[in-house]
Amino acid sequence: MTFPLRRMRRLRRTPTLREMVRETVLDPGDLIAPLFVKEALSKPAPLDALPGHVQHTLSSLVEQCGRLAELGIPAVMLFGIPARKDDAGSSAWDADGVVQQSMRRIRAETGDRLVIIGDLCLCEYTSHGHCGVLKGETVDNDATLDAYARIAVSYAEAGADVVAPSGMMDGQVGAIRRALDARGGEGVAVLAYAAKYASAFFDPFRHAAESAPRFGDRRTYQLDPANVDEAVQEARLDAEEGADLVMVKPALPYLDVLARVKAETRLPTAAYQVSGEYAMLKAAAARGWVDEDRAMLEVLTAIRRAGADLVLTYYAETAAARLRRG
Ligand code: PBG
Ligand code: ZN
Repeated sequence: MTFPLRRMRRLRRTPTLREMVRETVLDPGDLIAPLFVKEALSKPAPLDALPGHVQHTLSSLVEQCGRLAELGIPAVMLFGIPARKDDAGSSAWDADGVVQQSMRRIRAETGDRLVIIGDLCLCEYTSHGHCGVLKGETVDNDATLDAYARIAVSYAEAGADVVAPSGMMDGQVGAIRRALDARGGEGVAVLAYAAKYASAFFDPFRHAAESAPRFGDRRTYQLDPANVDEAVQEARLDAEEGADLVMVKPALPYLDVLARVKAETRLPTAAYQVSGEYAMLKAAAARGWVDEDRAMLEVLTAIRRAGADLVLTYYAETAAARLRRG
């Protein structure tokens, strides 16, 4: 039944018809908001390359979480910037560390309305800015796992619902799962940054999180942007090690990876629209080169269409507000 019997335009005729046959729906409930909180900060510090975002104080963080919950956003991902860094990154597992304090405060103020996710890594906490413990100039995989396990337990004790290891060490999900289960954290879920690429799109984040490596780069632990089979293997291993959810990061340049990871794991899958992706849209919109609302919704919908059940995005608040206006 080809043309002229089959006319694809029939179902595009009116807004209601188009809505009726829409395959992918974007909802505030699909979004997760990344937030930065800095220890010993007296007032929120705006971030140049992440327009609309700040490094939060504890109290501005809690207020922001309240606003996000009001908008129907179900979860936040916390990144902490400690007052003190050292070679081991030991502030990361301090029971009174900035993320641990934040978790307690958010829980006290918003109860169970928000799912609290703690990004679990060392790069914000180490003086050298790498995601793990160094041995010479290389990151020592297995020594790093011990540190990750301690961070996971401290997050669980602070009330995290989910911990999200982002350092791309081998065996990180299993090490964290075992530590949580041994120390009363069996109810805490693991969101694995399963396929995280050595990407050029992280720079605004590294400024925001004060986490740029002091030397070298992260290519010995993050994925080569040229590879997709390897990403699927990473996700499978994470699933075997007990990941409850998996993530692909960045999002838009890796939609093929996202589709494969979702298809092959069938786990709840998240995609992280990272800082540089947000900055690109913001920069083009500021020049009037694209319509920001339309571009934002198109990209977020595309990420969902490719296989993401959940999208981490710096647009979470803006997109949720826009979606609620209809
Ligand atoms: C590192 C980490 C990175 C991001 C979150 N955690 C990347 C990196 O520094 O290599 C990037 C997020 C973003 O760009 O928005 N653990
Ligand atoms: Zn890191």
